Amino acid sequence: MLRAVCPGSFDPLHNGHVEVIARASSLFDEVIVAVSKNPSKKPRFSLEERMDMARETMTLLRGITVEPMGEGLLAEFCRDHGAGVIVKGLRSAVDYNYEVPMAAMNRQLTGVETVFLSADSHYTHLSSTLLKEVSGLGGDISDYVPRAVYKRLKDTR
Ligand code: PNS
Repeated sequence: MLRAVCPGSFDPLHNGHVEVIARASSLFDEVIVAVSKNPSKKPRFSLEERMDMARETMTLLRGITVEPMGEGLLAEFCRDHGAGVIVKGLRSAVDYNYEVPMAAMNRQLTGVETVFLSADSHYTHLSSTLLKEVSGLGGDISDYVPRAVYKRLKDTR
């Protein structure tokens, strides 16, 4: 049984995230979407709101659960949840350069491996930060976020 973790702040979740999580769920028996508290960032949405949006979106996908990661180490979260693999999406060389040292550190900490999935070309320009800005300025982001997120972003403009 192979269990993988898809970690992130998901502030908020967008369709690029969902696409990577869905592909992870076709590669692994179980996928845990781990929603990070990340004290170094000041999120727009609370941990509970980010988890609710992820849970509402993931109800359509089988074998996926959504868990809070809190503020601890991702490698320890994976060990404590019996997950041997972290799955991350890569949009560009910028992501690669940021992610590879973390993958090495996580492997050295607990032996957890990281698998990178290249982002679908429809989503390589997406980031939660950009979508919050576009939505806040009245732009239409309905093609880029799940319905549960679209509604909340609109309501908190
Ligand atoms: O969506 P984000 O903000 O890019 O997600 C980053 C996340 C949560 C994956 C990263 O910040 C993380 O791994 N946080 C847990 C703390 C940790 O383990 N730090 C050491 C990494 S080697």
